[in-house]
Amino acid sequence: MKKISQLYSTSVGKKLLVAVTGAIMYGFVVGHMLGNLKAFAGPSALDQYAEMLRQIGQAFLGNGTFLWIARIVLIVAVIVHVITVIQLVQRNSRAKPTRTVRRRNASTLAAKWMAISGTLILIFIVVHIAQFTLGWFTPHAAGTEGFVHGAVYSNLWGAFQLWWVALFYVAMMAMVCMHVYHGAWSMCQTLGLDAPDRNAAIRGAAAAIAIALFVGFSAVPISMLTNSIQSPTDDSSMTEAFEPDGSSESSRSKEGAG
Ligand code: HEM
Repeated sequence: MKKISQLYSTSVGKKLLVAVTGAIMYGFVVGHMLGNLKAFAGPSALDQYAEMLRQIGQAFLGNGTFLWIARIVLIVAVIVHVITVIQLVQRNSRAKPTRTVRRRNASTLAAKWMAISGTLILIFIVVHIAQFTLGWFTPHAAGTEGFVHGAVYSNLWGAFQLWWVALFYVAMMAMVCMHVYHGAWSMCQTLGLDAPDRNAAIRGAAAAIAIALFVGFSAVPISMLTNSIQSPTDDSSMTEAFEPDGSSESSRSKEGAG
């Protein structure tokens, strides 16, 4: 324990913690984007996928427990990541780097934007959970269904029929894209994975994943706004998928999944 706290007090230890917590969030974001693409398989496919996430480990832990464990890990990762980054920034500014060091540290647009994009992503996460998980803030277009817990596709549809909601999401996904691009590159440097002969490949892979995240995430709001994806009411399999034994129907109103 003493060794861990000694390591944490060093800049190397803090950078390691930022990298590890960043990697946890990176994994979540990639998984979340891939999961969202289920929307293109139809409303019931997305809703069933969300329901499946709620049921992981049900036999051992009970309904939703695994999801709560994952949420707690994620919340702790976000808090530790933010606090440690703030401590590192404070330490760096106390060290008063020379102009050259400052310029080297902030060499790309994404690097300069880390603090701004990180803050905007934090605000986004709060708004996003209030909107789609908790249903506290649910702007939706006139004529669409209101928010229903577990009716993930329909909730997204109602919100993304509003241009400003779709625009907000696409703009925030650009922030996510920039943040994870620079974050992934920094993480590789911290973990000592960088080397002159592979830096171009690492940067290329970081950029490719960041762009894939932007395109994959933005595809849902854009397709819903432009009506180029199925409307929730078109899904003939929806009733079939949810009603035969009534179990899924009742679990729809319980709680959200990622
Ligand atoms: C266009 C982009 C996105 C869409 C359409 C989207 C959609 C959703 C939906 C529908 C839910 C609720 C799922 C349910 O109730 O079962 C959700 C939950 C969540 N999303 Fe997103 N999301 C997007 C981007 C992001 C990003 C970029 C992040 C992180 C930076 C994120 C973090 C979360 C978190 C933490 C939850 C709560 C998970 C839980 O506790 O159940 N989302 N998202």
